[in-house]
Amino acid sequence: MRKPMMAGNWKMNNTVAEAVVLTQELSNRYTDAWADRADVVICPPFVDLKPAKTVLEFDKTRIAIGAQDVYWEPKGAFTGEISVPMIKEIGCTYCIVGHSERRELFGETNEDVNRKAKALIAGGLAPIVCVGESLAVRDEGTTNEYVCAQVRAAFAGIDATDAKVCVVAYEPIWAIGTGRTATPEQAEAVCAAIRATLAELYGADVSEAMRVLYGGSMNPGNVEGLMAQPNIDGGLVGGASLDATSFAELVKACL
Ligand code: PGA
Repeated sequence: MRKPMMAGNWKMNNTVAEAVVLTQELSNRYTDAWADRADVVICPPFVDLKPAKTVLEFDKTRIAIGAQDVYWEPKGAFTGEISVPMIKEIGCTYCIVGHSERRELFGETNEDVNRKAKALIAGGLAPIVCVGESLAVRDEGTTNEYVCAQVRAAFAGIDATDAKVCVVAYEPIWAIGTGRTATPEQAEAVCAAIRATLAELYGADVSEAMRVLYGGSMNPGNVEGLMAQPNIDGGLVGGASLDATSFAELVKACL
């Protein structure tokens, strides 16, 4: 049985002061079931990681923290970048890689995503590898091929033992921040194709152990239908993770 995961991707939202308030609000809603029956993760902006972690530690709240991106080199002359050792020291155990906004707005390639995933694994962190098609690809009818090619590229050169710690998030670009969620059937079809690809790469045991999340306008109104799908193990949530009450509802749907 896979442990469900609910991960909040705060994107470029919340100053330190705001992040402390939101983390505290989440911590106030936390119960031990959140950690016992699911993996709950928040992914604030870099500057908010330490303050958020401090709130969680003070309250002994078992919500994990993750970064939204990382650079693959451990240190050096890479102005503006943040390394795996830096986020690890703060206490991050996860890191999103290959989000469609990074691919589209910042030119991140499949090769970059692969390097980042490998650097995270080497540092003992679990990558949350994002994949997903544009509306043009969906309309062409080549979604599964496109998304599964992204999965293969992201996992190139990663062995089964390391793959097992990774999480894959299927996020159709047309559903992100648009209020237009994929139907549970649409999301399930692609998540099943992703798991079949992982099975080809690593065998059935590993693919059955890996979490595949759905992301794209997930909210308290649509989470039940999505979570009822056999190949959807949780969510990567943007907008609805910025409000403690709605994120807590999403977590409850995982328990
Ligand atoms: P959304 O974002 O929930 O606001 O659609 C999801 C994501 O991009 O991770």
